[in-house]
Amino acid sequence: MGSEDRLKRVEEEAIREIDATTSLDELETVKIKYLSRKGIVSQLFKDLPNIQEDEKPSFGKGINRLKELLNQELKQRSDKILSESGSELAEAVDITMPAPRRDIGVLHPITKTMKEICDVFSHMGFAVVEGPEIETEYNNFEALNIPVDHPSRDTFDTFYIKDKWLLRSHTSPVQIRYMQEHGPPFSIVVPGKVFRPDAVDASHSFMFHQVEGLMVSDNITFANLKWALFEFASACFGPASKVRFRPHFFPFTEPSAEVDVSCMICQGRGCRVCSQKGWLEILGAGMVDPNVFKAVGIDPDKYSGFAFGMGVERIAMLKYGIDDIRLFYENDLRFLNQF
Ligand code: DAH
Repeated sequence: MGSEDRLKRVEEEAIREIDATTSLDELETVKIKYLSRKGIVSQLFKDLPNIQEDEKPSFGKGINRLKELLNQELKQRSDKILSESGSELAEAVDITMPAPRRDIGVLHPITKTMKEICDVFSHMGFAVVEGPEIETEYNNFEALNIPVDHPSRDTFDTFYIKDKWLLRSHTSPVQIRYMQEHGPPFSIVVPGKVFRPDAVDASHSFMFHQVEGLMVSDNITFANLKWALFEFASACFGPASKVRFRPHFFPFTEPSAEVDVSCMICQGRGCRVCSQKGWLEILGAGMVDPNVFKAVGIDPDKYSGFAFGMGVERIAMLKYGIDDIRLFYENDLRFLNQF
């Protein structure tokens, strides 16, 4: 074999072996085989004196070129192995560097408050049910004993769609839907969105959230209502909270009351938030009106029940000391991230 051929064969073999390596260790073995002091390339140099005189210069140059080529190939292969192998790469990375920050989402304060309210009542045995945001005029008004000439039926107070359909103005129609499907005894809470064409300001929005409550059985009295709302106030606003009932009128309950909780900012002493009254109104409630029972086919002589409805935004504002309802809807992360 001519000396040129010999070099060519070593080159081809070496490149094949380099290409076949998959780790830096394997690559090191190949490097030692060819380029160490006793390696194949050194051996070629040692053979130089035995080469024919006229071939010596080109053989010498050829070995040097081969050595350089193999060094290049080894470098390329080690770069490739490093970039493909995560663990080897890790050695080239500063693992003490802080990891990139990942923002973890939080629940919206309204979702959170609504969930807290429902959790309190769930623990008392209430089931959580929902109803549609588009309602019939009948469920939203008639069935709830709201007469045709009642001002809340006015187009200024309600978003009408068409053919007696509207955006529900409260969660109370879910009372009707539930009682049409289920006979007593039952106790439910109903979280959801409601809509009223109110001009937006610090305390009004055309959409807000309510939680409705309804408990019906054969011997439900006002005492049961008081128990449920006392439990709710102490769980939601703290065990020192007091609750008071003021007589009021709602078409769907009789008797009806507006319910106040002692101001959690000043503990009832009187401050700006409670307008020096020491009390904050949080919900409406009462005993289910017999006409509502009649509308759903429940015998009012046999069954009785209580109902209540509260505004979630208002409760969240009191709980967290928020003074503008619009903050809930602006999607400003500086606000939302605080919850
Ligand atoms: N639906 C009433 C409203 O939106 C709130 C309400 C008051 C609900 C008394 C009730 C209730 O169930 O008994 O203003």
